Amino acid sequence: MEDQQYSSWKIIKRLLSYYKKKKYLLLLSCILILLATITEISSPIILSNFINNILKYRILKMTKNLYLISYFIILQILSSCFNYFYTIYFSKISTEIIQELRINIMNVALQQPMKVFNQKPINSIITKITNDTESVKEFYETILSSFLKNFILFFIILTSMFILEWRMALISSLMIPIVSIIVIIHQYYSKPIIKKIKSSLSNLNNTINEIINGITIIQQFNQEKKFIEKINYINNESYLNRIKTLKIDSLLLRPLLNLISSIVLSCIITTLKLFPMAIIKISIIHTFINYLRHLNEPIIAITGQQSLLQQAIVSSERIFKFIDSPIKTYGNNISSLKTGEIQFKNVNFTYPETKKRILKNININIPDRSCIALVGKTGSGKTTLSNLILGHYTVTEGKIYIDKKPINTLSNKVLRKNISIVQQEPTILYDSLINNISLNREIKEKTVINALYKSQLKQLVDVLPNGYMSIIGQNNDSLSQGQKQLIGIARILVSHPKILIFDEATASIDSESEQKIQKILSSIQKKSTVVIIAHRLSTIINSDIIIVLDKGRVIETGNHKELLNNKGLYYKMFTYQHNYKNI
Ligand SMILES: Nc1ncnc2c1ncn2[C@@H]1O[C@H](COP(=O)(O)OP(=O)(O)O)[C@@H](O)[C@H]1O
Ligand SMILES: [Mg+2]
Repeated sequence: MEDQQYSSWKIIKRLLSYYKKKKYLLLLSCILILLATITEISSPIILSNFINNILKYRILKMTKNLYLISYFIILQILSSCFNYFYTIYFSKISTEIIQELRINIMNVALQQPMKVFNQKPINSIITKITNDTESVKEFYETILSSFLKNFILFFIILTSMFILEWRMALISSLMIPIVSIIVIIHQYYSKPIIKKIKSSLSNLNNTINEIINGITIIQQFNQEKKFIEKINYINNESYLNRIKTLKIDSLLLRPLLNLISSIVLSCIITTLKLFPMAIIKISIIHTFINYLRHLNEPIIAITGQQSLLQQAIVSSERIFKFIDSPIKTYGNNISSLKTGEIQFKNVNFTYPETKKRILKNININIPDRSCIALVGKTGSGKTTLSNLILGHYTVTEGKIYIDKKPINTLSNKVLRKNISIVQQEPTILYDSLINNISLNREIKEKTVINALYKSQLKQLVDVLPNGYMSIIGQNNDSLSQGQKQLIGIARILVSHPKILIFDEATASIDSESEQKIQKILSSIQKKSTVVIIAHRLSTIINSDIIIVLDKGRVIETGNHKELLNNKGLYYKMFTYQHNYKNI
């Protein structure tokens, strides 16, 4: 069913439907194309008149020739003008349509559920917004305009040929199927090569991307030569394929088409001799020679757009599928949360499109305004559990309740307003420090500055050239990971979410600052439920409940003392870290 919805024809129809709003401009462009073609096609007629003139009077008749020359020049100018305007209008229409499409995609991308970004396709979303729209632009700008222009050109030439001399035109039109077959055969052979060129080009882009991004590792491990060899190989491959297409074009296609034109012309001349009343004017023959050459071009051009069209269809399919993808996977309940109570009931979870069960039979109760800690080895499922609390994924089995309401009934807005996370590496936007904390929310400057100092950012503010008004995030390296984490903490200090999650958010902060932040956290706790994920167990000693996860299961729960007495995994981890610290 899905395939039918995105069949090539339906995609083309959908692409064309974007013209609806711009039909007048499109009509104007078509008229301009028509005029451009007519003026272009008239030049051979004037030339043949010129020849006629010479033949008729044997001498150059100045006045008449002057007329012809000025007609000729005026036609050339007109044709250039029409061509110029139609190109401009067509570009205007296609650019506007692409702009609309891009905004459409960005809108959809911004509203996608977080799980789309947590999985791998960030790159594919970027590709959709940049490359795919570019190839769709090709559809509007090149393919369609060339199709219209060549279609019109073809029919006007054919009609003028019939008007000029129908018998000759009839013979000439025999050429059309032959040329079409030759071009299609040519396509058949050159298409795979063009495909290879395109793929080596994208391969080249990827490799360069890889090199620039991984330059430190490449230099550190002395891999420069290997990468140069790789680039050389791709380059060479693309070069050889390009030569191949050039050979096919210049050795096969062009000579063959010229041969066909010559054969047709000879046919015309010989067959017309059979008709006794037919007088072949030299001027008409001249016009025909000209037209025959012109007649090939539209056929080559239209069939030549095939591969571009195919590409545009593939890109459009990706774009339309993305635009049509369900945006909302959240509930409709928009009433604000009263408490930050969290309950997990028999929750099992497997990431979409994977098979491995990550969380197994999780049952936890987190009372409102309590502080709970999640500990466990790397990969035990702590981040996954916090993703579930954030509502980024739906559980495979079981239920999660927030404020006693099933999480899947809560609207996205309620979730985002009431549940916040400080990540291990918060994203820093290219903006001032102060805006990086307020994030365009309506927050008083004083509150933001207060949060800045509370989260131990004073040191950073002091070294920045313009204090907290300085632009940060320009290049990723100017802030340390710890500073980024402090900014992440400041961001949540200015809002008052009901539930706050710290996912290894203090891992790169020095112990002294961390202790200060701990104090702030305990003050936050009066208003919010706090979930802390931390490797450094000293951070979570004071939590009300510590939940120990192992391979997706809760294996221990209790407070610090209880768990130490348990002598289980927590005890082992704690004594290990404690001893290590004392060494
Ligand atoms: N987006 C994802 N898709 C599929 N598997 C994932 C994804 N994120 C994490 N995992 C897997 O889930 C398991 C738990 O990961 P995670 O919750 O990040 O562990 P922790 O935070 O405890 O280190 C790991 O085995 C990891 O490979
Ligand atoms: Mg994690």
